[in-house]
Amino acid sequence: MSTLLPQGRIDNWIDGRRVAPVSGRYLPSIDPSLGTEWLQVPAGDADDVALAAEAAKRAFAGPWRALPAMGRAALLRAAARKIAEHAEELATIECHDNGKPIAEARAGDLPSVSEMMNYWAGAADKIHGETIEVSRTSFNFTLHEPLGVVGIIVPWNSPLAILAAKVGAALAAGNTVVLKPAEQAAASILSIAPLFDAAGFPPGVVNVVCGTGEVAGDALVRHPDIRKIAFTGSTATARRITERSAQLLKPLAFELGGKSPNIVFADADLDKATIGASTAAIFTGGAGQTCVAGSRLLIQDTIYDELIDRIEKHVKQHVRLGNALDASTTMGPIAFAEQFEKVKSYIELGRKEGAELAFGGRFGPENFPADSPLGGGYFVAPTLFRGARNSMRVCQEEIFGPVTCAIPFHDDDEALAIANATTYGLASGVWTRNLNRAHRFVRDIQAGAVWVNSYRRIHWAVPFGGYKDSGYGRDSGLESLRGYQQTKSAWLELG
Ligand code: NAI
Ligand code: MG
Repeated sequence: MSTLLPQGRIDNWIDGRRVAPVSGRYLPSIDPSLGTEWLQVPAGDADDVALAAEAAKRAFAGPWRALPAMGRAALLRAAARKIAEHAEELATIECHDNGKPIAEARAGDLPSVSEMMNYWAGAADKIHGETIEVSRTSFNFTLHEPLGVVGIIVPWNSPLAILAAKVGAALAAGNTVVLKPAEQAAASILSIAPLFDAAGFPPGVVNVVCGTGEVAGDALVRHPDIRKIAFTGSTATARRITERSAQLLKPLAFELGGKSPNIVFADADLDKATIGASTAAIFTGGAGQTCVAGSRLLIQDTIYDELIDRIEKHVKQHVRLGNALDASTTMGPIAFAEQFEKVKSYIELGRKEGAELAFGGRFGPENFPADSPLGGGYFVAPTLFRGARNSMRVCQEEIFGPVTCAIPFHDDDEALAIANATTYGLASGVWTRNLNRAHRFVRDIQAGAVWVNSYRRIHWAVPFGGYKDSGYGRDSGLESLRGYQQTKSAWLELG
């Protein structure tokens, strides 16, 4: 395997080899920095899903099942090494695929993907049941067994990192997997799959089928041999998956969107809060296409104008839109055309709703000199609305782009009320030097993560997931392992 970088077209990965889609149909994959096709990916359907599910079911019953936990740990460690060896190629693929800047893919996503495999290697051989003395003559012990074949559906914003958290846990627990990447950014997942086989995983343990959500995703959801669906994506799709899987009683885990409040109090360290409210929270490398984006910026009224000015200066100095492959780019494009149009329409909506554009609102070629090849890319300049009210649609609906709404508040009670007045509950930030206030907000914010004086920190050892419409189930951390297991209790009658 000299280079992983695909050219022309890439096929599914099923049972340890490249397999063309049964229908022979492919979809174009667009490089969003340029707006041009760079690769063709499979338009997989129920036939391809059936082949992958069959391979994964066979693999589950094969040598993989007989492998002791320490063997699974060793394979995950070998996969971590393979991924680290190919990190640069995988980072490059991610850039072409979804426009994540190479600097971020190199420093963040790729190292974390191999570290996650090491983390789950460490967990694989520490899976223990309990012994329970029910009575003098009844002896009970529990076994944490794998579910079987797990279907993993991931979105386009950070394909490898989102995938790795789920795959690592699923494999550590002893499952086999069928992965369904997003049709808009499938290449990195199609490319990483053979590294698991090269690391020594038996064929069929890791399979990838690419296709649209409505076709390939739905087939995975409805396949009777897929014992669980672990999903990251939109709340609307999660509802659809719930309906479509109802007859099968399939366990589901959902990591969904958010409209996360990032709350800055007047007593905060404003230098840090300026970064924390902008480049750390929403004006990110991935152009705010992150589920935890700090997209509602709650600012105490006494520092409202000052903080917005500071943010504008910081953004001017530090955000550089450019080709994702350019190492000096700090913010890439929106990942594909439809999402670009969606972000555009929300900025238009914000204006109509009466919010005022403090800065930003420039699209595509407006961000570059007239002759730049980047003019065809899906770029949106960092955008901040001032004078936003929490009831506006731009403050309630997930935009998934570099757009934040600055909402003023007067005191703690009002900040908390606004923070929780959302159907979502994924993440939140609080900027203050007051320890009592920090604890109160940690306790009373309804969200799966609260960052005090930081934003968007994520670690593979820390459970991650949402409250309310942001989903259920957790990724990362030992807690997430249980989601890929079922408990058997064994009763032994003595005497
Ligand atoms: P989506 O939720 O439709 O796509 C995520 C994944 O689900 C993709 O792999 C897709 O192919 C698959 N999928 C779609 N329909 C399916 C179905 N019926 N059955 C099974 N799988 C299905 O997200 P989409 O439409 O690409 O983005 C729309 C919005 O969703 C974004 O604007 C954003 O607000 C939100 N979103 C949130 C993400 C997060 O990280 N929480 C990631 C992606 C999108
Ligand atoms: Mg693409």
